Amino acid sequence: MALRLTPAFLAVFGISAAQQYPNTTNPPTDGSASPLNNAYSPPFYPSPWIEGLGDWDAAYKKAQAFVSQLTLLEKVNLTTGTGWQSDHCVGNTGGVPRLGFAGICNQDSPLGIRFADYVSAFPAGGTIAAAWDRGEWYLRGYQMGQEHRGKGVDVQLGPVVGPLGRNPKGGRNWEGFSPDPYLSGIAVADTVRGIQDAGVVACTKHYIMNEQEHFRQPGNFEGEFVDALSSNLDDKTLHELYLWPFADAVRAGTGAIMCSYNKVNNSQACQNSYLQNYILKGELGFQGFIMSDWDAQHSGVASTFAGLDMTMPGDTDFNSGKSFWGTNFTLSILNGTVPEWRLDDAVTRIMAAYYYVGRDTARVAVNFDSWARDTYGYSNFYGKAGYELINQHVDVRADHFRSIRRTAAMSTVLLKNTDGALPLTGSEKWTAVFGNDATENQYGPNGCPDRGCDNGTLAMGWGSGTADFPYLITPLDSIKATVTQNGGILSSVTDNYAYRQIQAEAAQASVAIVFVNADSGEGYITVDGNMGDRNNLTLWQDGETLIQNVSALCNNTIVVIHSVGPVLVNSFYDNDNITAILWAGLPGQESGNAIADILYGRHNPGGKLPFTIGSNAAEYGPDLIYEPTDGSNSPQDNFEEGVFIDYRAFDKQNVTPIYEFGHGLSYTTFSYSNIKVSKSSAGPYAPTTGQSSAAPTLGNFSTSPADYQWPSDFTYVNTFIYPYLNSTDFKTASQDPEYGVNYTWPAGATDGRPQARIAAGGAPGGNPQLWDVLYTVTATITNNGSVAGDEVVQLYVSLGGKDDPATVLRGFERLSIQPGQSATFSADITRRDVSNWDVARQNWVITAAPKTVYVGASSRKLALQASLDTSDYQ
Ligand SMILES: *[C@@H]1O[C@H](CO)[C@@H](O)[C@H](O)[C@H]1NC(C)=O
Ligand SMILES: *[C@@H]1O[C@H](CO)[C@@H](O)[C@H](O)[C@H]1NC(C)=O
Ligand SMILES: *[C@@H]1O[C@H](CO)[C@@H](O)[C@H](O)[C@H]1NC(C)=O
Ligand SMILES: *[C@@H]1O[C@H](CO)[C@@H](O)[C@H](O)[C@H]1NC(C)=O
Ligand SMILES: *[C@@H]1O[C@H](CO)[C@@H](O)[C@H](O)[C@H]1NC(C)=O
Ligand SMILES: *[C@@H]1O[C@H](CO)[C@@H](O)[C@H](O)[C@H]1NC(C)=O
Ligand SMILES: *[C@@H]1O[C@H](CO)[C@@H](O)[C@H](O)[C@H]1NC(C)=O
Ligand SMILES: *[C@@H]1O[C@H](CO)[C@@H](O)[C@H](O)[C@H]1NC(C)=O
Ligand SMILES: *[C@@H]1O[C@H](CO)[C@@H](O)[C@H](O)[C@H]1NC(C)=O
Ligand SMILES: *[C@@H]1O[C@H](CO)[C@@H](O)[C@H](O)[C@H]1NC(C)=O
Repeated sequence: MALRLTPAFLAVFGISAAQQYPNTTNPPTDGSASPLNNAYSPPFYPSPWIEGLGDWDAAYKKAQAFVSQLTLLEKVNLTTGTGWQSDHCVGNTGGVPRLGFAGICNQDSPLGIRFADYVSAFPAGGTIAAAWDRGEWYLRGYQMGQEHRGKGVDVQLGPVVGPLGRNPKGGRNWEGFSPDPYLSGIAVADTVRGIQDAGVVACTKHYIMNEQEHFRQPGNFEGEFVDALSSNLDDKTLHELYLWPFADAVRAGTGAIMCSYNKVNNSQACQNSYLQNYILKGELGFQGFIMSDWDAQHSGVASTFAGLDMTMPGDTDFNSGKSFWGTNFTLSILNGTVPEWRLDDAVTRIMAAYYYVGRDTARVAVNFDSWARDTYGYSNFYGKAGYELINQHVDVRADHFRSIRRTAAMSTVLLKNTDGALPLTGSEKWTAVFGNDATENQYGPNGCPDRGCDNGTLAMGWGSGTADFPYLITPLDSIKATVTQNGGILSSVTDNYAYRQIQAEAAQASVAIVFVNADSGEGYITVDGNMGDRNNLTLWQDGETLIQNVSALCNNTIVVIHSVGPVLVNSFYDNDNITAILWAGLPGQESGNAIADILYGRHNPGGKLPFTIGSNAAEYGPDLIYEPTDGSNSPQDNFEEGVFIDYRAFDKQNVTPIYEFGHGLSYTTFSYSNIKVSKSSAGPYAPTTGQSSAAPTLGNFSTSPADYQWPSDFTYVNTFIYPYLNSTDFKTASQDPEYGVNYTWPAGATDGRPQARIAAGGAPGGNPQLWDVLYTVTATITNNGSVAGDEVVQLYVSLGGKDDPATVLRGFERLSIQPGQSATFSADITRRDVSNWDVARQNWVITAAPKTVYVGASSRKLALQASLDTSDYQ
């Protein structure tokens, strides 16, 4: 069939036909009305090589010096995982024993260390987003980094900004921060800096558009094969929404980025040359390495050319003993398909990240094992080899519990508080606590593997983004401690279905505190019929009936919600007997202490919602895809809503949410006055021009097959992935029936000559001028109440174009203000903050549309406004 690149089709990425290499991916075949259906991701080659851009020069030079000493086999070793459960960490590369260099240890998760003892369970990303506090985000990152460092981990597999949270039902949204790209961007950057300042590489993930769990991987669905889902989006939405926080992570120096399971525009993310070569390593100037998600690599040479630098966990399928790299990578260099510079670049990127965070001085040997908690066991768990000391049970928690408690309290959002119902005094006559969510899982806080159940109080979601709790303080524990210290009465019913007992206690209570939740997680575990993604936005465990049963009999009912994101509160939020509602997210190990600190006024709430609470799921936009849409072919997930997710969608449709993005109350009140805008003299924006250096090659390699055979005295571990050949005949060594088939590799893939720089690029994060400060906005915030409190002051911008959201968040600051006092809010607005992505120009532009800045207490309480003069900046 003839390939037709229609203009509408090209406009999806807005690039000229000259940039197309059309034959490597499937073109759209139908005449479907949606320009996104069957969208196709254009090729881009060669893969840009590391050059030491930005502040990477010193690390780059150290990495080059290290890699220059390595043999071809040693280089391949550092790019390739040794196989699932083959070594101590959740993912490990081969090492360089000749130089005493152990392989790289990659370990979950974004909220602590998975599969280890004596570690802390931090609040989840989507919870700390509600603190809107850069210092807390940095500190949490730093403390998680310290713990990983102490256990011997090289790369922490976090933080998360993909999923961003397109739809609140997305199973892993809670691992990331917020559906707002600006908020997520600041949070990810501070977290990356924190982790890396502790001497551990941060791996920002999942790149990109991994917005749901159903169909994220090719596999069986109800017995039938279904290919991986394709998230289809246009270039503007990519830049203005989903890529935005990744740019912040790259600018903050993230050493690694994990490519995702799904396809984007019908090309697998880990071999998507457009997204990895052009966007990430080209435009964003990423200097670190791209690691695959676990089994997200689907090809050898193709993924090498498309920019992948490390394959995890290394085998084609868990424990297959085969690899797309390892032996195959060695062969692809020896047979001349892949130029040496591409391998050198991959290894240099890995080692540059290592030096960039100072692992050459921070590294300790791995002292735990992911697969067994016994002190002695197999070093190679799956291959049952190397019986030795595998767990030293090193306690890395220090006093992190203190900041975990404080951050959890700072992240708690007071949604409703009628007539000062909160704070409680602790000397209420009769306190009654209700809900399974108030107490501990009967199997213990870690009783369900990877937290794959919803028993007891919810303090993290489920899946790989978890850690074992060292303990879990429950709400009932902490409330009881406070009430009993005050000589009060406390009763509790933690079975949501014990209606008779619930009613008896509710009728007695002077205050009833009801705990409810809603959970989600990663798709490999199904909980209560939810395959990772939530099936609905309502409460779990029949929380609504519980609330109804209590509030019908107690006119001072307080509801606390532990949830992975928005839940529907329609049935109870405006009930007069419900005097207060709190959203406490997924608070981690100090959950009970943090909520009691809020309830009893030891901590004045200052958190604000990092998402919108609406009144039905449809208000958030297109639903997730729960069923195959085209037989075994990739479900086409067309992101037709563009940049309009969460509050932008509500604003566009003129729907009033129940609790808007940015909403949150305090035990005091604040007023806003005196907005001032000062304009800088940054001047106009200049595109980046010029050329890169040529791709360097680091050292020579022998072309004699004899030099790559298994060492004679080698003890081979079963299913372990090695770089060696077991035959001098390449085809035999490859064990690949398709070996040597004459594929036409993409044009330019092997071209190591200097390449044109990208106009919107030039440094890590993109063109450095995008971060020029164009305006500084200040305002006066006054605490009008009688207690000290925190106010998260928010700055929104209207970009003014007909296709723009009403407003977008572009600044915030959490201020602590004493009663009767005022403080000055100040925020910088950068060039990127007031720009739109111009598809034709392939760059950011400040449009001529009039722009307005707003400062207020939430996305819908915009007390102050001023116009932004954009002359001289266009
Ligand atoms: C792409 O396919 C078309 C038609 O099948 C062919 O004429 C063209 O040469 C191919 N281009 C490349 C780069 O392989
Ligand atoms: C590759 O790594 C494995 C595991 O660390 C090691 O046993 C092997 O010796 C390494 N090979 C080379 C050539 O360094
Ligand atoms: C090389 O890769 C192919 C798939 O491309 C795979 O079938 C084969 O098993 C691999 N060889 C080895 C030695 O892992
Ligand atoms: C070179 O090696 C790779 C990896 O085994 C293989 O996929 C490819 O077909 C080989 N190419 C040639 C020309 O032999
Ligand atoms: C505890 O978890 C299991 C597994 O998900 C579930 O079957 C059971 O109903 C749960 N029990 C309670 C009380 O929630
Ligand atoms: C929503 O899902 C939860 C968890 O599976 C379930 O308990 C609840 O009954 C569902 N709600 C509705 C309205 O179906
Ligand atoms: C509120 O609580 C009182 C008991 O204090 C009860 O009589 C009344 O019916 C309740 N109202 C609602 C709407 O449930
Ligand atoms: C709640 O009910 C109690 C009696 O149970 C009553 O004393 C109190 O005034 C009621 N409060 C409100 C706000 O109605
Ligand atoms: C060597 O290759 C053969 C196939 O040619 C394969 O059966 C065997 O498992 C390989 N041995 C190792 C150690 O990889
Ligand atoms: C691949 O093409 C080259 C040159 O066209 C030829 O020499 C070689 O034999 C071909 N290899 C295979 C396996 O067909």
